[in-house]
Amino acid sequence: MSKNATVITYGCQMNVNESAKIRTIMEDLGYNITEKIEESDMVFLNTCTVREGAATKIYGKLGELKKARDARGTKIIITGCFAQEQGKKLLQKFPCIDIIMGNQNISKIPEALEKIEKVQEVIKAGKLRDKKLKHVVLTGYDDELPPRIDADFNNDITASMTIGYGCNNFCTYCIVPYVRGREKYIPMEELINQAKEYVKKGYKEIMLLAQNVNSYGKGLSEGETFANLLQGIADIEGDFLIRFISPHPRDFTDDVIDVIARNPKIARSVHVPLQSGSTKILNDMNRGYTKEQYLELVDKLKSRIPDVALSTDIIVGFPGETEENFKDTLDVVKKAKYDTAFMFMYSIRTGTKAGEMEEQIEEEVKKDRLQRLISLQTEMSNEVSKEYYGKIERVLVEGASRKNKDMLSSRTSSNKVVLFKGDPSLKGQFVNIKINQCKTWTLYGEVVD
Ligand code: SAH
Ligand code: SF4
Ligand code: F3S
Repeated sequence: MSKNATVITYGCQMNVNESAKIRTIMEDLGYNITEKIEESDMVFLNTCTVREGAATKIYGKLGELKKARDARGTKIIITGCFAQEQGKKLLQKFPCIDIIMGNQNISKIPEALEKIEKVQEVIKAGKLRDKKLKHVVLTGYDDELPPRIDADFNNDITASMTIGYGCNNFCTYCIVPYVRGREKYIPMEELINQAKEYVKKGYKEIMLLAQNVNSYGKGLSEGETFANLLQGIADIEGDFLIRFISPHPRDFTDDVIDVIARNPKIARSVHVPLQSGSTKILNDMNRGYTKEQYLELVDKLKSRIPDVALSTDIIVGFPGETEENFKDTLDVVKKAKYDTAFMFMYSIRTGTKAGEMEEQIEEEVKKDRLQRLISLQTEMSNEVSKEYYGKIERVLVEGASRKNKDMLSSRTSSNKVVLFKGDPSLKGQFVNIKINQCKTWTLYGEVVD
């Protein structure tokens, strides 16, 4: 009988990409991939640790998995950033975990599974003396690029590609550099070839991933820059879109803006993580730009790429943030007019500089600021949405809408969701839609020729 595996994903697109790689590895080992834990022999929990809430979710899920393990002997494998951060410590709370595996070790899954099987044999034979032997912990990483694994995205329309690993920025609030190590980038030729393969397989969207995409090329040869990489991929023949996350505002060079402006294949949606609108807080965050420099970048993006939509990440309640500082954030939100913003309350991460700062902000103040920020951003998103009224947009059809089964869901190049009535066979195609209704987060329209 064939065996089943489930992969549960938390966190960012990098984890979504790594989960696809894990599924591919398991399929190659002969496993069926299922979403049903109750039918699984092997459950992977691919974790995140960027904010405190992440751990709470993971603990909840581990409790659920323990029951499956007790009932049917389901193996529990924990991968991703929380696994990397906690390592062996996790076993104290959850001795039910079979394998703890860091980000850079997923290519060693077959090896780890073999070890677990051997342990199983020893247990069956009643010979296990050292209890620690029951678990496999692989959380090391080195300066080399991890082995390439071509993920299969199962006929989805988007393929994501890791262009680089790690982060050297050490923003003072952030744990990512500690759990993903130092930056290393994959040579350009290899990436362009990989993108060609994905386009040939029929993917309609190529998403480039790195913690700081526009640092791409560090450590590679001259000419291997992010702008040249984008151009190289845009030059591949075929009808597809290129997206990328995340760029760092400090490193957003003019050559990248020019390449986007020149190539309609590069999506008209750019993520520009603000974090804070206050120059003082930005400095304490070690972000490397001021409020004014950030606003200049926004102006430049909007003037050189007139149809661009911007999105952002914002943290409220960073240590020492005054009401005045927070108002600077609101001011930037008004001026930048983002399409969407991911907004977070500052969350202490152990081992980071900001975690040690004395002037931590009270929970109530953080909550209040987050609410005020969300309501301002909702107003702005609503305004941006209304601008689409009557326009004809070329959208990529993603399939049936989850909320409204009679409708198809699609996205514009600027990353706006558009719902419309149409034949399900349009999935994976680009179609032109005339927008006739604009809600804050969703547009509605009809197909035009
Ligand atoms: N490398 C990417 C993503 C970083 S994590 C980038 O730099 O854009 C995604 C977002 O989580 C960050 O942009 C930040 O807004 C938020 N974040 C990171 N650490 C945080 C913390 N300690 N508390 C609250 N939000 C945090
Ligand atoms: Fe974290 Fe800053 Fe690196 Fe992004 S750039 S991953 S926020 S340290
Ligand atoms: Fe989370 Fe790791 Fe991504 S901490 S946000 S999964 S890089």
